[in-house]
Amino acid sequence: MSDERSMEVEGEGVAPPAAAADPTAASSKGAYRNASASGEIPSYDGDDRARATDFANYFCSYAQLYHQKQMLTDHKRMEAYYAAIMGNSEVFRDKVVMDVGTGSGILAVWAAHAGARRVYAVEYTDMANHARKLVEENGVGHVVTVIQGAVEDISPEALGGIEGEDGPVDIIISEWMGYFLLRESMLDSLIRARDKFLKKHTGLMFPSHTTMYFAPVEDENERKTSVSEYTNSMTDWNDFVESTKTMYGVDMGPLHNAFQREQKEYYLLSSRWSELRPEQVLAQPVAVKYLDMCTCTLEEARGLLKGNPGGAFDFDVVGEDETAATEGGGPVGGRHAVVSGFAGWFTADFKSRTDADGAGAPTVAHPSVLSTGPENGYTHWGQQVFHLLSNVPVIRGQTTRINGELEVIRNKDNARLYNCRMRFRTSRRRNEEKKDGAVLMQGPEVEEVYHIP
Ligand SMILES: C[S@@+](CC[C@H](N)C(=O)[O-])C[C@H]1O[C@@H](n2cnc3c(N)ncnc32)[C@H](O)[C@@H]1O
Repeated sequence: MSDERSMEVEGEGVAPPAAAADPTAASSKGAYRNASASGEIPSYDGDDRARATDFANYFCSYAQLYHQKQMLTDHKRMEAYYAAIMGNSEVFRDKVVMDVGTGSGILAVWAAHAGARRVYAVEYTDMANHARKLVEENGVGHVVTVIQGAVEDISPEALGGIEGEDGPVDIIISEWMGYFLLRESMLDSLIRARDKFLKKHTGLMFPSHTTMYFAPVEDENERKTSVSEYTNSMTDWNDFVESTKTMYGVDMGPLHNAFQREQKEYYLLSSRWSELRPEQVLAQPVAVKYLDMCTCTLEEARGLLKGNPGGAFDFDVVGEDETAATEGGGPVGGRHAVVSGFAGWFTADFKSRTDADGAGAPTVAHPSVLSTGPENGYTHWGQQVFHLLSNVPVIRGQTTRINGELEVIRNKDNARLYNCRMRFRTSRRRNEEKKDGAVLMQGPEVEEVYHIP
């Protein structure tokens, strides 16, 4: 790792790339940090300015029906939540439910349809007005109460319950997940709502468990596109330096390194949204983080920190056998000739409680699962792909081992965003050789930090 890179990752990670996000996010350092003074998401303890920044950067898109519609037309998402709620009506019947971040109100309406006695639908943005209308017009206004505000600011007394040991709520439903699960950091709000409102021993969380997956992938066309966009941008910069000197007599050369770094972070060190095909996944995905929604802590929600169990990965990408290649006449290296990078995605389960404290909770007899992995086709989350600066070849008859560690770290200037640090080594051995057997080639250690835009 070069000195330049170690400066970039000082603290909790690289700043959001200047050209990647919206302008307010880009200027999030200093006065307009998208984080409270303590580094929390501003909906928890932010001052007015932090909340205003958070609204501009995060909440305002959720105030638009256009954005809600994108989620409402993600049918994999809709099917999983519909099956979880409507398919378990015996669990919802006569219960008190809270929908954390109700948006258009759809999950709250389903909870009412499933027989809930009362549904508290909490929404921060003015989308709450649309939700109220939707609830009324769909005939469940007598069951669903829409409350506008940050769930962090609502007191259990407002719901007629007591804080702590046995809250007023039987079931919390929420669609809080972001790219690679944690982006947006809405999980913090959910945990705070759970600890304030949910019945400790009998309460249910929908979803109940979530898992982050990570795998090496082939995605060479996209990787090459990013590299050539970066190269074009630097060629354009060189022309600009030249012409500015000729035309206006000022040498912009001293800014070369800063511009290069900015462009590298934008084109090469930002993950890309992708809808991968299953065959682009080159090895068995590893579950890097598993969260039980009934027990997970704010500390766990912060990410996958250095040394956390689960962050270690050890992939074997098996090159096509010599014989298969001869028979099939395929290209050298087999069907998957290169590792282009890694991909991250998540699954969300809706199932019974598994923690010891929840032994007395109702059984979820009809579990449902939402997968955002390549095997499940389109979801609006897709997969986040982290392209390598140099690809790793996969040789016919040889197994390429990629072992290292993944960290997923919250950005210190914008508590809604995450960076991913990957540190790994590659080596090759014959396919028939055992994992720790003789090595044919050992590559240097690679370390990069990517921003999830
Ligand atoms: C991903 S959307 C889900 C909307 C809806 N539940 C659905 O499934 O279609 C998340 C919603 O939660 C709201 N939200 C996020 N954090 C919140 C908080 N702390 N308090 C209240 N609402 C919040 C957002 O404004 C947004 O409308």
